[in-house]
Amino acid sequence: KRNVGIMTSGGDAPGMNAAVRAVVRAAIFRGCKAFAIKEGYTGLVEGGEDYIKEMKWQDVRGLLSEGGTNIGTARCMEFKERWGRLLGCKHLIEAGIDALIVCGGDGSLTGADLFRAEWPSLIQELLETNQITQEQYDRHKHLYICGMVGSIDNDMATTDSTIGGYSSLERICKAIDYIDATASSHSRAFVVEVMGRHCGWLALMAGIATSADYIFIPEKPSSSKVWQDQMCNIVGQHRAKGKRKTIVIVAEGAITSDLQPISCKDVKDVLVNRLGLDTRITTLGHVQRGGTAVAFDRILATLQGVEAVKAVLELTPDTPSPLIAIDENKICRKPLVEAVEKTKNVAAAISERDFEKAMSLRDSE
Ligand code: F6P
Repeated sequence: KRNVGIMTSGGDAPGMNAAVRAVVRAAIFRGCKAFAIKEGYTGLVEGGEDYIKEMKWQDVRGLLSEGGTNIGTARCMEFKERWGRLLGCKHLIEAGIDALIVCGGDGSLTGADLFRAEWPSLIQELLETNQITQEQYDRHKHLYICGMVGSIDNDMATTDSTIGGYSSLERICKAIDYIDATASSHSRAFVVEVMGRHCGWLALMAGIATSADYIFIPEKPSSSKVWQDQMCNIVGQHRAKGKRKTIVIVAEGAITSDLQPISCKDVKDVLVNRLGLDTRITTLGHVQRGGTAVAFDRILATLQGVEAVKAVLELTPDTPSPLIAIDENKICRKPLVEAVEKTKNVAAAISERDFEKAMSLRDSE
């Protein structure tokens, strides 16, 4: 029986609580002890009972529908340093944890992968400096690690959806539905900024679901002249047909083909100056990350949490760490290292303006 730790890390996402609940209960169901590591990697670096707590079945009662993550999350700088990871290694061993499930975005899972790769040298150093006993060394020689993708951005390669993506999308669509009413009433244009970091999934899907007039995403940059002409042409046509509202969605990572950020202000100025539209900007901000998880995210987190526990119990020292994915509607395991690598390559291809490569990497298995 392995002692299983679960942490949530990076930006919170609706469904993370459901993931914690599923992991805790699946671990207990399989006769293991479950531990929550609080405040993401900060909890590992700090250690002790305030940060690493055994969880019982009833400790996760009612969590399924709650938004955010009740065990806390953080973007931890200390864990990016070797000394931080050494402390993390020591604190996991002190708590007796031998399997770690990390629910977070690409940055958090990159950290998890690095931790796994470094584990032998970290534990060796702890033994040589008498910070752990030989017995502890023998028991914890291997760290069994597994990734679950919790992020509203839906930007992780090798999985179709990340926990939180559809909840955030739902929130964005609701907000745009609300904006629609006031936009129509005043015959105004609204430029709506949505999150997603370097990924345009939220903006694109929200655009389709709300029939926005024009969308800006990082994956499809164009020169200022092209987007200005195209947007004015399309919006102008819609207006000429009698449409009383204009919605333009700007992904926060949207860029021009010479890599300049496209701001909502830039877009507003064009709508005002070229089309004479009375225009307002709405930045949805963290509203997109709040609120309860939609059914899809609750189900995804639950099924993946159960699979993550199964995976860490089946892992041997020679099996690569898995990432729990969903691929064509099936919950499955993908190699964590590859998923992290591919995600980094997509980001690199986007910043090198090699968009065809970025798209093919994102689409490929
Ligand atoms: O990664 C999730 C995300 O919400 C991004 O979409 C956004 O760019 C970022 O986190 C915002 O981070 P913070 O909450 O730290 O400001």
